[in-house]
Amino acid sequence: MLRRLHPDQPESFAFTPANQAWAEAQITKYPKGRQASAIIPLLWRAQEQEGWLTRPAIEHVADMLEMAHIRALEVATFYFMFQLQPVGSVAHVQVCGTTSCMICGAEDLVAVCRERIAARPHQLSADGKFSWEEVECLGACANAPMAQIGKDYYEDLTAEKLGWILDELAAGRVPPPGPQNGRFTSEPLGGPTSLTGAAQEEDHNGSVALAVRLGDTVSRIQGDEVPLVTTWLGKGGGTLATPPARPAPPEEHPRPAAGQPVDRTGTTELEAREENKAKPEADVATDAAPGRAPEALDAPEGEADDLKRIKGVGPVLEGKLNGLGIWHYRQIADWGQDEIVWVDGFLNFKGRIERDGWIAQAAALARGEDPEKND
Ligand code: FES
Repeated sequence: MLRRLHPDQPESFAFTPANQAWAEAQITKYPKGRQASAIIPLLWRAQEQEGWLTRPAIEHVADMLEMAHIRALEVATFYFMFQLQPVGSVAHVQVCGTTSCMICGAEDLVAVCRERIAARPHQLSADGKFSWEEVECLGACANAPMAQIGKDYYEDLTAEKLGWILDELAAGRVPPPGPQNGRFTSEPLGGPTSLTGAAQEEDHNGSVALAVRLGDTVSRIQGDEVPLVTTWLGKGGGTLATPPARPAPPEEHPRPAAGQPVDRTGTTELEAREENKAKPEADVATDAAPGRAPEALDAPEGEADDLKRIKGVGPVLEGKLNGLGIWHYRQIADWGQDEIVWVDGFLNFKGRIERDGWIAQAAALARGEDPEKND
């Protein structure tokens, strides 16, 4: 693809004071005469600040690094991570169009982008909120088709899911990234056959858990991060100046050791978790969960239903539902609002049961119908 600078350019560029301090700190990581090595982080910071990489920004960075402008232009126009034209104010959608994703439906995702955002890549949507482009393999081929939106991967997509994600983002909500079909990560669709250990007892894989904790995948760097300041001492190496202390992160999730620091109780977080695991799941969750726990069965009546046929339920969730005594479609179909709220809270789903339409799907399955055909 031909990568050219946008015809409309601003007059000038300057880093914000915080970003200027950050950029100067980056340069100190490299020995004298090698400052040009900081070109990519500085260009990226300029893009984060403005949303896209302007010609004045590229030249400003080149001047900071004592490089010829053409050298910085070569870098900016070579790497696809640099956006050379304005992007959507909410999100820029990068749909992978390489082999695995193409075979699994990338063209449907591109069609959604054409219809919902703009007819051509790199055009802004009418409201200026979105833009899109097709990119080469993003390395998540086992979860094809997928798209990078902002800083995160949305995987196992369908046209409907991508449309829903765009709706959510336009409404100011950020859907959890990662697999969108109930998979934990990139395990087989039928469930993991190896490495079936503790990691899969979490609600989300590590990347998704972080995004969920931040509640965001699309905002740009604000410029108030603590700069990492290094002082290069020459051939012998450098020293790391002590950076200012980072503010303590909010303690959203109290540690399981009853709020006591791990070293004073002698109970490690892992041990506390093991203790909780030993209790029936319902006991651990009931205290805080609003709503009403759904009616449970001690064991399936006859053969258990395949709850994974409900869109949004993967093998991990099926195991958790079974742990709650939920084995049959009809049980889920009978849930009222109280039960939905309780299970939502128990699974930390934030409304996903209703969004994915579990009740209607379960009712259709209980009647022996295929919910896919009713969509
Ligand atoms: S082919 Fe799409 S992520 Fe690799």
